[in-house]
Amino acid sequence: MLAVESLELEILRGRPRKVVRNVSFSVPRGRVTCLVGESGCGKSLTCLAILGLLPEAVRRTGGTITIDGERVNDLSPEHLQALRGGKAAMILQNPMSCFDPICTVKSHFLESLAAHGGNPGRLSPEVMPESDLARARRSLAEVGFDSPDDILDAYPFQLSGGMLQRVMVALALLSEIRLLLADEPTTDLDVVSQARILTLLDETRRRHGMGVLLVTHDIGVVARMADFVVVMHKGEVVEQGEVATLFAAPRHAYTRALLQAHLSLYGLSFGDEAVGTVSPEPCLAAATPGPVPEEVRIR
Ligand SMILES: Nc1ncnc2c1ncn2[C@@H]1O[C@H](COP(=O)(O)OP(=O)(O)O)[C@@H](O)[C@H]1O
Ligand SMILES: [Mg+2]
Repeated sequence: MLAVESLELEILRGRPRKVVRNVSFSVPRGRVTCLVGESGCGKSLTCLAILGLLPEAVRRTGGTITIDGERVNDLSPEHLQALRGGKAAMILQNPMSCFDPICTVKSHFLESLAAHGGNPGRLSPEVMPESDLARARRSLAEVGFDSPDDILDAYPFQLSGGMLQRVMVALALLSEIRLLLADEPTTDLDVVSQARILTLLDETRRRHGMGVLLVTHDIGVVARMADFVVVMHKGEVVEQGEVATLFAAPRHAYTRALLQAHLSLYGLSFGDEAVGTVSPEPCLAAATPGPVPEEVRIR
């Protein structure tokens, strides 16, 4: 569903410097690829590059991006806009920043519907056509809202971060998206909302067969969600692979440090001598007297 090949990004401000170098990975249909790495390593810029949303100070200096068989790096701004409304969508860490504070949720739905084939002339929430309203309600119900009409009438500040995150997914589901990019969607949420969003992403992925690129620095999230893992460090991919394989034998020091940081939360240790010789579950089990916490199980 997504192929990124040899992506290079450069920051233009001051002395130009490459922030992303030779980054290649893919997201197969119906699968979740997790992009992990420490803060500032280039995860968000990679996502923005995929959707052609790079900030002005950043330029793509090389590489190709293919979404659902279509090479998108040479598309015109209009085509990219259509792509964002159609095949691909993105949800972000801070959903509040994506909503216009003076507009109701309904207005945001109207705008999205207009952007892909709704009624562009009718941007007043009062005259939202019944068919559009039905689509909005359906989409909100799909992300778990029991009374979609209350949500449609709400202003962003009246909803919690977790609810806004679900509204973002509902907006994305207005079209048959094939690829969902989620940039740290749970980082700012409480634990209950986190679990809810992850379940929602998993369900929608299954139902719609879409590919998901999930950016996170939380190994617990990776263990729960990922089919494939791509580890970035200082603008480069240092290792990648199927989640179980990679966790069983992390080759790069950074990947090991990342795993260890997570395991120490549970008082566990991922000894070097065990790396590469045992699967992660026995290894984790061996390191702890009690049952392995669900969060660190690798499925
Ligand atoms: N708009 C921007 N202008 C200049 N530098 C930026 C901009 N956005 C990100 N950067 C820089 O690019 C690097 C990668 O950023 P980012 O992709 O946001 O990292 P991550 O999402 O992995 O935390 C960082 O060094 C960051 O400071
Ligand atoms: Mg980021």
